[in-house]
Amino acid sequence: MLVTSKELLLDAQKNGYAVGAFNTNNLEITQAIIRAAEAKRAPVLVQISAGALKYAGAEFLPMIVAKAAQLASVPVAIHLDHGPSFESVLQCLRVGFTSIMRDASKLPYEQNVAEVRKVVEVCHALGIPVEAEIGKIGGAEEHVVVSDREATMSDPDECARFVEDAGFDFLAVAIGNAHGFYKGEPQLDFARLEKIRSKVSVPLVLHGASGIPDAQITMAVERGICKINIDTEIRNAFIRTIQKLVAENPDQIDPRKIFGPGIEAMQAIVEQKIEIFKSAGRA
Ligand code: G3H
Ligand code: ZN
Repeated sequence: MLVTSKELLLDAQKNGYAVGAFNTNNLEITQAIIRAAEAKRAPVLVQISAGALKYAGAEFLPMIVAKAAQLASVPVAIHLDHGPSFESVLQCLRVGFTSIMRDASKLPYEQNVAEVRKVVEVCHALGIPVEAEIGKIGGAEEHVVVSDREATMSDPDECARFVEDAGFDFLAVAIGNAHGFYKGEPQLDFARLEKIRSKVSVPLVLHGASGIPDAQITMAVERGICKINIDTEIRNAFIRTIQKLVAENPDQIDPRKIFGPGIEAMQAIVEQKIEIFKSAGRA
């Protein structure tokens, strides 16, 4: 069933688990996410970036996800990931998104607040929750590219002020997490996360979770992370599976024979993540 992310994240916060937010670009990834969520009886967010909307169609991809969510036997929210502008938010609200991120974290503090406030006014009037970010998460996620030098951790006092000033629902934090594959083993700053948690009452979000060791994910969930974003590991499972099958079966031209196992490989990743996030059995 299609729901907003607010009910999902508030339940996660209350009961000490995190909801997985998995990126989709097409039908197959969407199927993998929903099948995994149903198999694990877990609530889930299916998230779509501006790049995914451009690739698959600003109306077409959300229609696929919305229909999949309506048919699903578990609660599913459709989330705009790293919303780049006010206009992009309106476009998503028009086609039925039930959760919005406005990412203005690259802008100076006052501008970040102003951009987020503008989105909050519209979204809250429609009953749609808003995620915002402070600090700069390193790495590359489509149009969001932050070099190691530019990456900055979220400051706990600024986090508290940001929530107060901009009035949004979920806070994405930069605590040593980064988008894409990590160069070495990531080391999340748990002391910083604990400080943020002590000063902020809204659910916290961890981006760039592909490649973070399971033990650190568990520690992050224990310290108040309620939404965890995964993209890279899903893409990797899909493409590596397809590459292998194409190499092994050069004469195979039935896409279902290639994409089918690709869906299964992605589903396995999403199921593993759901277990680590402790959201299995919560639906
Ligand atoms: O917004 C999406 C994510 O933060 C995903 O990050 O590609 O490192 O898993 P990832
Ligand atoms: Zn992200």
